[in-house]
Formats: sequence, C-alpha cells, structure tokens
Amino acid sequence: MKSSLVLASAVFLSVVTVNAQGLPEGTGKSIFENTCGGCHGADIVIGQTGTRDVWQDTVDSMRSRGALGTDDDFKTIVNYLTTYFGVPVNVNSAPAKELVDNLNLTSAEADAIVKARTAAKIKDYAELSKVQGLDIKKLDPIKNRIKF
Ligand code: HEC
Repeated sequence: MKSSLVLASAVFLSVVTVNAQGLPEGTGKSIFENTCGGCHGADIVIGQTGTRDVWQDTVDSMRSRGALGTDDDFKTIVNYLTTYFGVPVNVNSAPAKELVDNLNLTSAEADAIVKARTAAKIKDYAELSKVQGLDIKKLDPIKNRIKF
C-alpha cells in the first residue's frame, strides 16, 4: 500500500507538489479528507485531473451515493480539487471564465490578466507576477500547471 502511494505520488509530482501522504496541503484538505475518505481513501483522486465542471460532477455523484456534508463543505471540496487536481491553464489563451473557474481567481483578477495579455503576451511566471491587481500568492502552489 505504502509503495503504491509513493508511486502514485511520483507520477503526480509533475503536476503539483505533494507531501508524503500524497495529498497537497491547502485550504479544504481536512474537510476533503473527512468527507471523502470514508468509503474509499481520499487518495482515490491522486493521479486524476479535472476542470471545475468535472470535479463538480464527481462530487455531486458521490453526494448521491451518500457522502455527507453541508453545501459549504462540498463547495470547499470542489475548490480544493479544482485547485490541486486541476487541469493545465494557458494564461494567454484561456477565456476569463476558465481563469476564474480553474485557477480560483476572482473575475477582477481574471480581467487584469486579460488586460495585461492584450497589451503583450505574458511570457513567463515572473511577468505574470507583475500583473497589477493579481494576488500571485494564490497561484504559487499551482505554478506547475500554469502555461504561457
Ligand atoms: C458513501 C460512500 C462514498 C463517499 C462518502 C464518497 N465516495 Fe467516492 N466512490 C464511492 C464508490 C462506491 C465509488 C466506486 C463506484 C464508481 O466508480 O462509480 C467511488 C468512486 C470514486 C472515484 C473514482 C471514480 C470516479 O468517478 O472518478 C472518485 C474520484 C471519488 N469516488 C471521489 C470522491 C470524492 C471527491 C468524495 C467526497 C465528496 C467521495 N468520493 C466520497 C463511494 C463514496
């Protein structure tokens, strides 16, 4: 079991930074583990990636199977999964809605990126971090899936 976890973590390492248990630290991790770790291990999600819509569907389907929690818990879980088990996002071509949905940005932050890239292509993470009105700290943990 332990070695398969290590293996899963190694495969996953290219997508996000993982801790020894394989699940990335971040807002909502404990709610996710408590809510989703009852029937199967919460680590069932390791190696999977999805857009917000995909994770929303998975969570809805687990809810219909009996996962228990408040609406807020499930919102938090979808945010956690979308953030740490999300898809790559190209900040130069993704529509504003995808920036909001899949990078967990506010619409003001997404608009700031769109405005910046309209002036000139955003070349790299260093340039992205200079975009006015964007809280780059939010993106640091998921840096690996931001494309230019
Ligand atoms: C009441 C029991 C139960 C709880 C709680 C539960 N699941 Fe599941 N889950 C299942 C069962 C049963 C399967 C296998 C059936 C299947 O593959 O559709 C499964 C399969 C999965 C799969 C693999 C199949 C797929 O659809 O990709 C994922 C991912 C998953 N669960 C995520 C979650 C998440 C996220 C939560 C918390 C919101 C959760 N589960 C909570 C019962 C549960």
